[in-house]
Amino acid sequence: ESYTELYRPQYHFTPAQNWMNDPNGLLYADGTYHMYYQYNPGGNTWGAMSWGHATSEDLTHWKEQPVALLARGYPNNITEMFFSGSAVIDEHNTSGFGKKGKAPWIAMYTSYYPTAQVLPSGKQVRDNQQAQSIAYSLDHGTTWTTYDEANPVILDPPAPYQDQFLDFRDPNIFWHQPIRKWVAVVSLAKLHKLLIYTSTNLKQWDLESEFGPFNAVGGNWECPNIFPLPVDGDKSKVKWVAIVGINPGGPPGTVGSGVQYFLGDFNGTTFTADSNSIHGGGPPDGSFIFEDFEGNHSFSDRGWIATGDFIGTSPVAGTLPGQNPVTGYLGNQLVNTFLNGDATTGTLTSPSFTISYKYINFLIGGGDNINQTAIQLKIDGNVVYAATGSNSEQLTWQHWDVSAFQNQTAVIEIIDLATGGWGHINVDEISFANTPATNNNANWLDWGPDFYATQGYNGLPQYQRTIISWMNNWQYGGVIPTSPWRSAMSIPRQLSLKTIDESIAVVQEPEECWKAITQTQIASTFPSITGTHSLGDIGNAAEIELTFSSGDGTNGSSEFGIIVRASKDFSQQTRIGYDFTTQQVFVDRTKSGDVSFDSTFASVYYAPLSPASDKTVTLRIFVDWSSVEVFGGQGQTTMTTQIFPDENATNAQLFSTGGSTKNVQLRISKVRNHAF
Ligand code: FRU
Repeated sequence: ESYTELYRPQYHFTPAQNWMNDPNGLLYADGTYHMYYQYNPGGNTWGAMSWGHATSEDLTHWKEQPVALLARGYPNNITEMFFSGSAVIDEHNTSGFGKKGKAPWIAMYTSYYPTAQVLPSGKQVRDNQQAQSIAYSLDHGTTWTTYDEANPVILDPPAPYQDQFLDFRDPNIFWHQPIRKWVAVVSLAKLHKLLIYTSTNLKQWDLESEFGPFNAVGGNWECPNIFPLPVDGDKSKVKWVAIVGINPGGPPGTVGSGVQYFLGDFNGTTFTADSNSIHGGGPPDGSFIFEDFEGNHSFSDRGWIATGDFIGTSPVAGTLPGQNPVTGYLGNQLVNTFLNGDATTGTLTSPSFTISYKYINFLIGGGDNINQTAIQLKIDGNVVYAATGSNSEQLTWQHWDVSAFQNQTAVIEIIDLATGGWGHINVDEISFANTPATNNNANWLDWGPDFYATQGYNGLPQYQRTIISWMNNWQYGGVIPTSPWRSAMSIPRQLSLKTIDESIAVVQEPEECWKAITQTQIASTFPSITGTHSLGDIGNAAEIELTFSSGDGTNGSSEFGIIVRASKDFSQQTRIGYDFTTQQVFVDRTKSGDVSFDSTFASVYYAPLSPASDKTVTLRIFVDWSSVEVFGGQGQTTMTTQIFPDENATNAQLFSTGGSTKNVQLRISKVRNHAF
């Protein structure tokens, strides 16, 4: 393997060649970290999805292994691709795949079938169906046998979601000792739901519960993971963390894909998010005016809910002019069952209700084409608020401040603006609340643009949670300027839960074996820095630690940070810093070399971070040939961004804007290039 090409990461895993996306089947066994990943054996863009394989002893040096699951029929007649999933060691041979005392390893993944077919198991699948299958390995994960006798082991989504078979994926499996069963969490991507299944043998799966939608619901929900972690290291205080990828969606200021998390509890069958876990629009403080899938409603319960009726009451019928009355089906996905096809527009009017609470919150998306959905609030026949959905894929929260209309009688109209094609309108969860719904109300696992499809390791001690993410973004992943490979994995990170500023945060710690790959280059202390301070040439790959505090009063700086990967004249540069006024970390990649391949790439990204109790701010910054990862504070804020600077852009400097920055401590350790 060559590590000398332009942009080739030195300490982030990349395949020698070809396209890679999500980490899959992360499994630790006998001293070896196995990492499988979405891989195209035949090219440098997404396709022919197979499971690539790499191994590491220290999460730092990786060795690429032969492809583990090759797309069936590759290359000319692909009938099944292997989408994302996870893997476990079946120590007690519950599956029966073990032989001669050898415990089988089991992978559960999403089978994607490009065309309808009858499978060897006799099961029939439809065009583009996604279903969950298993494979086993008896040679420590090197070769795998798919369970063709019965695959897919979960064929269709359960009632009432059978129509979701195109977007049903990414099983995350683990052993749950308290119930002595295997658990699988699978995503209903378009409905923003996680389905939880259990099994005694990894072959037969029983549906136990569902979770979601919750917080950020932009785009598809993909790659779920749920796992327990003790709070502040206290094993008597364990919380469960649910991680979900969103595409498109992601943290404010990013475009493309991102990862959110929820804290809550898991009782072996059901995940319940904490009520104080940040939420955007629902659950509401008051009634739902309209909802389609929150609570315990069955399919036919979907529809309008008269005010005063909270979850659990029958819906009230809405009417659509020229069509039959509707008692349900007014849902995120299902609305097109009655507003589709023909060139008619239509309006669906709610029962009238009395305005209480300060806000009406709702989710809105655009429909199959942009701007097909509109919603309005009418009082006495007059429109007092109107909104349209602006993105066909992405449901976003909006709110109306109705504090001026207390106790007045109102109706809401949902309008299909389509004049052709499918009037697939998208509205959901219209509810009363005392707080406005906003899209920023989510816990983001990472605030940068290049961190997606997070997966945790199985096979480690119960509370040791090492994760890896795909360090790329679906917005431009296929056109980043690297060759002959595309995409790197993030630094592996160990997660824990810590109480910071009175709330529980997921904290991340990079898990590389730095000693083996770095040598310290700079270690200095500056009582005060004003303006800029040159650091000279620090190379293309480095580990940096920077601690500082704002100068006092009027002389204090407004911003402090470090410029890395700069050309001699600084026309190319990546700026990483802290804004004391807004208390935000930022990464500016507007001048980070090649930014031309996507119009959204040249941007500045921001993440919230409060200074520590001693008023200092700490940033750990990991620079590689084509990436920058920032860990702020104790690791409660991270930002991951790709950059594509020239090879000789290796200069660095500190900057203090608007005044002086005090007590600056800087350590730079150079990562030896081609050290692998
Ligand atoms: C997420 C994802 C998964 C899917 C895989 C296909 O990045 O879309 O949902 O399983 O990629 O490669």
